[in-house]
Amino acid sequence: MMMLIAYILFRNNRGVPTMLEKIAIIAMMILCSCLTALPSSAQQQTDANGRQWWQNAVFYEIYPRSFADSNNDGIGDLNGITSKLDYLRELGVDAIWITPCFPSPQVDFGYDVSDYEAIDPMYGTMKDFDRLVSEAKKRNIRVILDFVVNHTSDQHKWFLDSRSSKTSKYRDWYIWRDGKNGGPPNNWQSEFGVPAWTFDKKTGQYYYNYFYPQQPDLNWRNPAVKDAMLDVTRFWYKRGVAGFRLDAVDTLFEDPNLTDNPPSPGKDKFGRPNFARIHNTKLPEVHDVLQDLRKIADQYDAVLIGETWTKDIAELKNYYGEHGNELQMPMDLMFGTVNKLSAPEFRRQIAAVDTAGGWPVFVISNHDMVRSYNRYGDGVHNDAIAKLMASLYLTLRGSPILYYGEELGMENNDPKRKEDVKDPQGITGWPGEIGRDGERTPMQWSDAKNAGFSTAKPWLPVPASYKTHNAETEMKDPNSILSVYRQLLTLRHKEPALVNGTYTALNEDDPNVLSYLRKEKDEAVLVVLNMSNTSQKVKLNLQPQGYSSPKLSILLSTFQQPASAAPAETVNLPPFGALIAKVAN
Ligand code: NOJ
Repeated sequence: MMMLIAYILFRNNRGVPTMLEKIAIIAMMILCSCLTALPSSAQQQTDANGRQWWQNAVFYEIYPRSFADSNNDGIGDLNGITSKLDYLRELGVDAIWITPCFPSPQVDFGYDVSDYEAIDPMYGTMKDFDRLVSEAKKRNIRVILDFVVNHTSDQHKWFLDSRSSKTSKYRDWYIWRDGKNGGPPNNWQSEFGVPAWTFDKKTGQYYYNYFYPQQPDLNWRNPAVKDAMLDVTRFWYKRGVAGFRLDAVDTLFEDPNLTDNPPSPGKDKFGRPNFARIHNTKLPEVHDVLQDLRKIADQYDAVLIGETWTKDIAELKNYYGEHGNELQMPMDLMFGTVNKLSAPEFRRQIAAVDTAGGWPVFVISNHDMVRSYNRYGDGVHNDAIAKLMASLYLTLRGSPILYYGEELGMENNDPKRKEDVKDPQGITGWPGEIGRDGERTPMQWSDAKNAGFSTAKPWLPVPASYKTHNAETEMKDPNSILSVYRQLLTLRHKEPALVNGTYTALNEDDPNVLSYLRKEKDEAVLVVLNMSNTSQKVKLNLQPQGYSSPKLSILLSTFQQPASAAPAETVNLPPFGALIAKVAN
């Protein structure tokens, strides 16, 4: 545009525009300023390979209470996160997802939001948030926020008004119903072991809460709710946020007729009889909302990540949208629920998601899930297994989401007594369900007191492993879990085959070793992972993949390798060893 204006001005070398040209220049300038004021929308950025930023990105989940405590009150905060951005940059992280840092009574540690457009003073100020975003940007790190779409806190001003009277302005923003036969309106159950309907004396009706009673469900059938919530996303996009992780999307809608759920076999973790939650989860209406959220996200080149608990790939597939117009990144949480190291089981899961057609999102740990270090560790080879797991989920097609501390081999520190439990889920469910405190302990920065997280007593205790498994110590050790993560992330950024290359399973009948080839154009990377506790000799035939006499150049191995280039016919792996190599003829 500016070139055109310059051309008009300086053609004929005279520099004095005619009246018509003046009008044209003014019109162009107005158009120009309008275009720059628009969100970066239509200009969805893609790289030379046609990929968008989030496809090349490695994501890192931060639980802000537990990451870094800058004001030494025992609880992490935003300035703490900002102070660790260099660490994250060096690790190779491209985007951080911060779990809710908005004002909240903290009943569910932030997943009970009382104001969507502010920062909880416990975590800092809006100025701190803006500084975090701009400091992150300087390091090419994007910031993703957690959007709690299903419910608010019972202290949100919308709910306070809603419960104040049957005729209040916000009454219909939540789900209120009369009771039935002296009890709740139907048999739906809360996910958290408490009743899903809470009786409110003042107005004599029940409100619906899929989670805790302090988390009343929003009524997404009310267009005003939808408009207000869509506006929340605009508010944060304008502050430079690069996307959202959408909390509990499965539960956004309920059957308006409140049909009872049918019983299903067995009991849940709280000892209650099971019901198939067909009338209050995964209703098709959620897709309309996701499409609306996506339209706005696209205007800001932003990404939507879904907390998508699905029973199979067909369900997961739905969340991408029929026309790829819903979530770009629905999490494959089925991957994280493979509970034991099993080559056939992981092979099956990977193949399924790889053929789903969308962009896979691999997660092996998060703030609701026992850490992978405990899940897969055998008590003897835990560090080797942590490196093996990293070599798996960071070499697959798609975008991985790391959970803070995963790169250090942080382990769960579960409460031993009910009186120590902070998570209400554990308080309600003890001892059958001990809650999620164990996987939310402070980040282990060093071997100093409280793992260098805070000089004050942290809100949750650090496990004894912080003496050896901490960022400072592991940084100095080339064989540490942290060093393996750093090398893996460097590789992901260097080897396009690891990000988007095709996935071909090799030796599919091998019960112990998971082997696959990632290939993009002429580049191929071989990944061989021994998931057993015995040494394995793997015979590979890469001829069908176009390698008649393949040579391997080792890119990374989690064990001592005798040679840097070797024929590919046989690979020897120690127990839980992982090897990643470039393949050439
Ligand atoms: C999913 C979140 O990850 C979890 O921590 C929270 O308790 C529930 N949604 C309710 O918001």
